[in-house]
Amino acid sequence: MTDWDPKELLRPAFPGLEESDLAELASVAEIQRYPGGTILCHEGALGDTFYLIVEGHADVIKYLDEENPRRLLHRLGPGDFFGEMALVQGGPRTATVDTDGPITVLEIHRDAFMRVLTRSAPLSIRMVLKVTSRLRDADQTAIADLRHKNQELRRAYHNLERLDKAKADFIGLVGHELRTPLTVMSGYANMLKVDERVQEEKRLSTLSQGILVGIDRMQNIVDHILDVSRIDSAVLQMRRVPTAVAVLIKEVESSFESALRERQLTFHSEGLSELPFIMADGDLLYKAFYHLVMNAVKYTPDGGSITVSGRLVQEKEGDEAIQIIVSDTGIGIDAEHHELIFEKFYQTGEVMLHSSGATKFKGGGPGLGLSIAKGAIAAHGGDVWVESAGHDEQVLPGSRFYVRLPLYEWKEGKAFEEEE
Ligand code: CMP
Repeated sequence: MTDWDPKELLRPAFPGLEESDLAELASVAEIQRYPGGTILCHEGALGDTFYLIVEGHADVIKYLDEENPRRLLHRLGPGDFFGEMALVQGGPRTATVDTDGPITVLEIHRDAFMRVLTRSAPLSIRMVLKVTSRLRDADQTAIADLRHKNQELRRAYHNLERLDKAKADFIGLVGHELRTPLTVMSGYANMLKVDERVQEEKRLSTLSQGILVGIDRMQNIVDHILDVSRIDSAVLQMRRVPTAVAVLIKEVESSFESALRERQLTFHSEGLSELPFIMADGDLLYKAFYHLVMNAVKYTPDGGSITVSGRLVQEKEGDEAIQIIVSDTGIGIDAEHHELIFEKFYQTGEVMLHSSGATKFKGGGPGLGLSIAKGAIAAHGGDVWVESAGHDEQVLPGSRFYVRLPLYEWKEGKAFEEEE
């Protein structure tokens, strides 16, 4: 090995260092040679050696995460030193330093290094400058990494948005495409139904009635698909007028009249007529409550009850809202589904997918009702959520769907300015 003079190696690395200090450091310094692949500092581990590179190179690296495990911070060469941070701070190594080829270093033990450091201004200043510039580099690297990650996240988000839009467009397209043939089928089936020969023959008349019921069900599903698609693609045209929620709920109740009777479900409303008018699109809000009540009907066994109650609530900063609660004495919903049920096509897994009558107990459907309700309520600046002690078909804990509809737009008189 070449005969190195530690003092002459240290001199250019620490300009201005007193001869006596140089001599003291040199007296304890040891020249060492390591093969490639040696780890000289382990991030997080304690270390008590200061290194000055004489020959060869070392890489300063950080291990980040699984995706990006090895991040090269710096490549150090002859004349560079490392390992000073842990010594100065008395803490663990801040990075890993390893070698990819053979390296010769000059090593100084912590005690001697600190002894000279505490009394030598030139050495202290050199250390401060070096450590500061390393921290600044590390800071900038971290910021660059963050920017890069942010960009990736933004790109992924836009992709998801695009996919979601493609899905919504597809759903809308399917809805539109199905509507025309369904109308044609409905027309022919109606003609068939009133045909004399069909009316005369009981079997044919039952068959044609069956076809009409099926078409009706399909039309219903297609209507829901189109509602979702309109809400999703924000082409929703709202026509807001002063609306009495009590009247809407009455209409909803009438729509379910025969189902309620057949299933011996009682329907109550409480406090609705005392509520103030809200600026709402009646058709849209009707749909929201229709689907909430439809759900209550579906998931309440025969003989149960459904209650729609309303009250005025004070919000932050003096704003007011109306709160409508649709509660039932049904089978309830487990907490894990409380948010997901408002997503399109979400089913809790126990419904009969072959819709044999949507108002039957646990009757099937395409899983769009609550997403329509959510979209319709959101379009009015409100929100909807559910509370339920869980799913239990014996205990019947029931569910409570809360709807909050703010009144502020009415107050500020801006309801007529927006939309269309
Ligand atoms: P220490 O923390 O003792 O051990 C790892 C060494 O890597 C550290 O001292 C510095 O010498 C060096 N190091 C840490 N971060 C950087 C950086 N950002 N740039 C260059 N070297 C660094």
